[in-house]
Amino acid sequence: MTKSRSQFICQRCGRMSAAYMGKCPQCGEFGTMVEQITVIPSTQQRLKRGKLIHPSQPKRLNELSISDGKRLKIELDEFSRVLGGGFVPGSLLLIGGSPGIGKSTLLLEIAGHFARTHGRVLYVSGEESELQIKMRADRMQVSAEEMYLVTETGYELILTHIEEVKPALVIIDSIQTTFTAELTSSAGSVSQVRECASRFQEVAKNQTITIILAGHVTKEGAIAGPRVLEHIVDTVLNLEGDPFHRYRLLRTVKNRFGPTNEVGVFEMTSSGLKEVPNPSQAFLEGRQVMASGSTIAVMLEGTRPLLVEIQALVNATAFSNPRRTVSGVDFQRLLLIAAILERRAGIRLHDKDIYANVIGGIQLKETAADLAIAVAIASSVKDRPVHADVAFIGELGLSGEIRSVNQIDWRLKEAAKLGFGRCIMPKSEASKSEITAGGIKKVGVSSISEALDQAFYVK
Ligand code: TYD
Ligand code: MG
Repeated sequence: MTKSRSQFICQRCGRMSAAYMGKCPQCGEFGTMVEQITVIPSTQQRLKRGKLIHPSQPKRLNELSISDGKRLKIELDEFSRVLGGGFVPGSLLLIGGSPGIGKSTLLLEIAGHFARTHGRVLYVSGEESELQIKMRADRMQVSAEEMYLVTETGYELILTHIEEVKPALVIIDSIQTTFTAELTSSAGSVSQVRECASRFQEVAKNQTITIILAGHVTKEGAIAGPRVLEHIVDTVLNLEGDPFHRYRLLRTVKNRFGPTNEVGVFEMTSSGLKEVPNPSQAFLEGRQVMASGSTIAVMLEGTRPLLVEIQALVNATAFSNPRRTVSGVDFQRLLLIAAILERRAGIRLHDKDIYANVIGGIQLKETAADLAIAVAIASSVKDRPVHADVAFIGELGLSGEIRSVNQIDWRLKEAAKLGFGRCIMPKSEASKSEITAGGIKKVGVSSISEALDQAFYVK
């Protein structure tokens, strides 16, 4: 006998409750609980489903050889690196990102590479027709003998396709359009998304197939999206970037088989997403040297140092509340930096508008860019450019002190590689030798005013 049960589920975080609650006790949001009727399959049905798939078999740890965990590397180096070396057979991955950011494009690219090197791929789309995908594939010059396409949204039918095609990689685009007939709720609801994902996890593990799910994230933070799936899948990758810019960052948020916070850089072109092997150079392209309000920050994304240009424009305000507008810089961080500049370096900002921008659509997540942002603002106020061969590393403390950040050596090497001659950085890190191996001069500073004295010094 099949039973059904009424439950309330938070559309934001997936918290379940037997009774309606105005405020979700987990994420604290109001009015996000919605009723959902869940059909509970009988024990018999569950067992039957279990048998459809191979039964599990306990193995001795010592009998498992490392080759069992062999990784399938694809030619797309940026992608393989983000995964920590390549696909682990039998793993379930989630690629999240806002609609239109390029998930389907990236997945098609991956499918083509995989089919050419490792075997059969089944691309299941619930959003586009086979013809649309074929047209896109032609434009992107993706073609492979072993690649199969199907437009399908029903989980049960997808399962039969998997059994027929016997692929080594399955791509589900997207998890929000997939539904199982065993639940009455509509596709895209929290219960459907969760149930389908955990079933795909079973399929991946039992049949040793790699499965990638595409998941849409909304601006407000994932309604029935990747957030509720994070504990089910093995790896979560986020495709980030500004749709109006050409660069996209693929970031590892969770990885059961490798490092997290690793970043791959791609560029959206008219023929698909292409790898950017030397991102720092790409981000600095077209830079106007000796322009006031522009500085270079040396960031670290995972294990990869990245040089990005930060621009600031400071202007007398026409409003009673001066404006602070950011793109790529954290808004609260900008307020803090502006306050420090005003109090500790005597730069008057309370009657001025500040606009801060990171070139290339990159979102700064590290405090290591504080110093570069502060100097960019000061440079705009004074209308004095910073010398073109200077890069900045350092976090700002509330007393105006420059604090150390991690992995200074990696950052310095990248700056030296790109031809920067001097790096203004925390004094504690610059103390030992004056010149590093890369030939970049370390200029140690301990406070923001000292940093400003050094920044505008022209050799
Ligand atoms: P898409 O992969 O459909 O996004 P998602 O699956 O994340 O919703 O990408 C859509 C955008 O990418 C669309 O605005 C057009 C752009 N695009 C290109 O610029 N070049 C291309 O070769 C392709 C395929 C897409
Ligand atoms: Mg898509």
